[in-house]
Amino acid sequence: MARTPLGVLACGYAFEEFCLHATERGIGTVMLAASLNRKAFEKAMDVTPDEVMPVASPVGYPATKRSMRESMMRKAIKADERFPWEQLFYGESFGTPLSPAGAGVFGEPLELLRLAPSAANKQPWRAVVSGDTVHFFEAHSMKARGADDIQRFDLGIALAHFDLARQEDGIQGGFTFNNPQLALPENVEYIASFKAER
Ligand SMILES: Cc1cc2nc3c(=O)[nH]c(=O)nc-3n(C[C@H](O)[C@H](O)[C@H](O)COP(=O)(O)O)c2cc1C
Repeated sequence: MARTPLGVLACGYAFEEFCLHATERGIGTVMLAASLNRKAFEKAMDVTPDEVMPVASPVGYPATKRSMRESMMRKAIKADERFPWEQLFYGESFGTPLSPAGAGVFGEPLELLRLAPSAANKQPWRAVVSGDTVHFFEAHSMKARGADDIQRFDLGIALAHFDLARQEDGIQGGFTFNNPQLALPENVEYIASFKAER
């Protein structure tokens, strides 16, 4: 994928879509970023300097039992949990937490976004619903920025969950880049918006 922030965002969307299709067919995947021998994989895949390969995944039938190491790691990062709505989603501004009922037609797509996987389960996505538009933001909790930002890849995963769910729900519309210029909490960056068509 192109070594640009937008390339990384698109890569997250496409990779998650692939993983969801695999899961649907009973095939296991696990995205690996930190646990990857990056140099070896980049060499094997002939990744050029203007490209980026944020993650790789094994593909196969999942083991029936988790290793002790995996179980301990999952416990440490609370992999089975997700942040509640009020920490992630807002109405009109970041000062107004949103409930699923308050989100109207966006309730289900946002709930499916909330359940998405992310690097170290950091869940860096935030959303502000404003009328027929949902604005998406990245809450940086890691140092990297730009094309090396794995949390930008997480945002691509989040947009895939939202987009697939809204299609399933028959919500018409599309993504735009239309920064609402809201007052932002620290380390929060605007990413993209979804505008519904009525
Ligand atoms: C972009 C990304 C990178 C990840 N990198 C790793 C990794 O390097 N090693 C690992 O064991 N798990 C990795 N994971 C798995 C996450 O830790 C896992 O998705 C998260 O803790 C939530 O758990 P769940 O997917 O089982 O719901 C990664 C996940 C994502 C989305």
